[in-house]
Amino acid sequence: MKVIETVAGMRECRRQTAEPVGFVPTMGYLHEGHVSLVKRAKEENASVVVSIFVNPTQFGPKEDFKNYPRNTNRDLAMLEPFSDVVFMPSDVEMYPDKYNTWVEVNGLTGQLEGASRPGHFRGVSTVVTKLFNIVQPTKVYFGQKDAQQLLVIKKMTADLNINLEVVACPTMREPDGLAMSSRNTYLTPEQRKGAPVLYKALSLARDKWSKGEKDAEKIRLEMNKLIRKEPLAEIVYISIADALTLQEFSHLMQKPALVSMAVKFGKTRLIDNIILE
Ligand code: PAF
Repeated sequence: MKVIETVAGMRECRRQTAEPVGFVPTMGYLHEGHVSLVKRAKEENASVVVSIFVNPTQFGPKEDFKNYPRNTNRDLAMLEPFSDVVFMPSDVEMYPDKYNTWVEVNGLTGQLEGASRPGHFRGVSTVVTKLFNIVQPTKVYFGQKDAQQLLVIKKMTADLNINLEVVACPTMREPDGLAMSSRNTYLTPEQRKGAPVLYKALSLARDKWSKGEKDAEKIRLEMNKLIRKEPLAEIVYISIADALTLQEFSHLMQKPALVSMAVKFGKTRLIDNIILE
């Protein structure tokens, strides 16, 4: 497995990489969710490139960029069996002095995560475009856990005619239902005990919906009630929206619907979602 730290080095390496190339962009501190994306990329391509870059431009000034968990040696050991190349640029390699170009996707970025994290998706779209241009992959793999990010990247790829296929992969969960995330390591043991309430609320929504409840507001209220029973949980949002446009459903819920939420445990902000279709 080659480890490459410069854009020029990645371009040079890319000339010798067997086609098709599967690419998994990450911010490191890998878990089984990331590994499932890398394994899928390996199954479907002749070679696999993974990037590890904690992208400063997608973090707000009060967010956890500085403290975002990092463990490169562990990440590289996890990737060794599945990845051919790891691209690990520095901040200045990606954003040199006087860097001043941004990619913005309108329409899908003002709500949900975008409403709570202004500028987040501008940072994501920009870095992902840069990574796509540097790595030039055939297929790229993203987790369904970041449902809005996935929609934004699909839209951006289509609008900018970027020549690759975006593959959506299922959310990986701990045995108690908690969606895998690098940020789960921030949770105290008490918060960790309460955190499966996100998936419990999503499961409640699925249950109500499959029994015929189609009133989105009623389902939102039930989810809200359930999460409030968990004393350490603080709801940021609960959304039931059109899974393609992210337009919120008020009462009559049509299919497919994205049921998503952000819930804080202390300073740790967890997100999760399911699609009802
Ligand atoms: O999902 C992530 O880990 C990041 O948002 C991504 C796509 C690697 C861009 O920095």
